[in-house]
Amino acid sequence: MFPFFLFLLPFVLIFSSCKSSEPPLEGPAALAARGKAVYQSNCTACHNADPNVDGPLGPAIKGSSKDLIEARVIHGQYPAGYKPKRMTSLMAVMPYLQADIPALYEYLNAP
Ligand code: HEC
Repeated sequence: MFPFFLFLLPFVLIFSSCKSSEPPLEGPAALAARGKAVYQSNCTACHNADPNVDGPLGPAIKGSSKDLIEARVIHGQYPAGYKPKRMTSLMAVMPYLQADIPALYEYLNAP
């Protein structure tokens, strides 16, 4: 007689190969995590560790646009027509962070 389990075997194999695993951290979440690390090591000397809050020198910058972040961090400027939160010009430029602008943007705009 044909053993019943041989009939079931293909289904068992198919389902066991579909075992769910943790989805890898990628996309916006990974970018935001990277941006947080970049922020903590380059920005928190002056901005608050919590970007929602004013820091000792720099203002709160949560929600900053990518244009604003790039203008400030890379060029030491503001986007055309932007009204700065502070009229000082204390912030240093960090052109070496060019590749990290998308990550900083993602972190500063994460929910
Ligand atoms: C040396 C201190 C210092 C560091 C380090 C610093 N900032 Fe600033 N930041 C300031 C100050 C002070 C201002 C207010 C304008 C000024 O004086 O330049 C400012 C303004 C800004 C603004 C504009 C806020 C607004 O809406 O007017 C953004 C965006 C910003 N900083 C982002 C960053 C990011 C991102 C980093 C890290 C990569 C960083 N800053 C590092 C001091 C700093």
